[in-house]
Amino acid sequence: MKLYQSPASPYARKVVICANELGLLPKIELRLTSPQTEEAYGKVNPIHRIPALELDDGLVLFDSRVICEYLDSIGGNKLFPASGLARFRVLKLQALADGLCDAAVPRRQETLRAPERQSKEFLASRERMIRQICDAWESTADQLAGVNIGTIATAVALGYLDFRFPGDEWRQGRPKLAKWHEEFARRPSYQSTIPA
Ligand code: BEZ
Repeated sequence: MKLYQSPASPYARKVVICANELGLLPKIELRLTSPQTEEAYGKVNPIHRIPALELDDGLVLFDSRVICEYLDSIGGNKLFPASGLARFRVLKLQALADGLCDAAVPRRQETLRAPERQSKEFLASRERMIRQICDAWESTADQLAGVNIGTIATAVALGYLDFRFPGDEWRQGRPKLAKWHEEFARRPSYQSTIPA
């Protein structure tokens, strides 16, 4: 299998951590990809987003949620509860985490524009979304238990804030979230994927 990815992408990092936790990493060739500059990547993934996973028979899977669920299905079904509320709790956690990334990645892109072309309203609304998602995690921190798609996605989303927006100081006023993240971040799968 071939995983088109970038170490800076939180969506790709989530997939790599899932693969690692499932013991599948040795079966995956990691292919560094920049969708903005590689026109040919559109032939692999027409929506031009990373990650994408190319299976040995040529089938290409995307987006990160689909890839994680596929990897779990071939890796022993350890990260997605099969059914019931347990399943929907972790899927909701993943949705919150991906929602944070969906706010933080465009925020990062906006900050790369010339200062006079940046939209203060856009940045403020993304910052508000990120704050509210972190508050939601803090107030339901008891849900952050074990290693599953929800906790992996949450740890990665917070890691993206550490990487791109250290000035946010998301730990401030959120002691439960901070403590949980500190413990989760000790996992080798997390440590080995911290973006440089
Ligand atoms: C980043 O550099 O922050 C980034 C790169 C690829 C995908 C998402 C974010």
